[in-house]
Amino acid sequence: MAKLIGKKKINVAIFASGRGSNLFALIKYSLKKNSKIKINLIVSDNNKSKALRYARNFKIPLLIVNYSTRSTAEKKILKKIKYQKIELICLAGFMKILSKYFIKEFKHPILNIHPSLLPKYKGLKTHERALMNKEKFTGCTVHFVNSKIDDGKIILQKRVKINAKDNVKTLNKKVLNEEHKIYPKAVTKILFNY
Ligand code: GRF
Repeated sequence: MAKLIGKKKINVAIFASGRGSNLFALIKYSLKKNSKIKINLIVSDNNKSKALRYARNFKIPLLIVNYSTRSTAEKKILKKIKYQKIELICLAGFMKILSKYFIKEFKHPILNIHPSLLPKYKGLKTHERALMNKEKFTGCTVHFVNSKIDDGKIILQKRVKINAKDNVKTLNKKVLNEEHKIYPKAVTKILFNY
């Protein structure tokens, strides 16, 4: 990634598969006066994702990729990413795993957000598992992506208390609310530390 000093904004691509609420949080952040990012591409593997609507509403270039063959899909993405001069990728509920090849080829940071206090509860159904194990806290984590699932160096975490009355739905709401705050913060943090 090019040094931020003297540079106006970093071109960012957001990858999203579903609801897109973190994507929306990052779009809102990018539109703030002092933000250092420009969202220059949205990638989705799902043509029913809300990401499509956000791309249209905010006039952001969109790439929908057919993931029936990962290597073909990734080559298409890499081509578009090069064309859009992307220097940072943020995964926001992207339900595909990036290959080692992709991570190596991109050469810039890739971030992900995960709804647990990593390294605890990698993978899916994090709130279900936290409740089942009677955890007192859960939360969310923004981390660098490496070739392992929900691994990579942690950038920011936010703890969320689990109350006796909490269920998957209430936890999801509470944690998601924090996700929308820490993702932009984590992006700012890495841009200034890079
Ligand atoms: C979030 O909980 C995120 O942590 C996880 O997938 C979910 C995506 O939600 N990786 P949304 O599509 O951003 O609303």
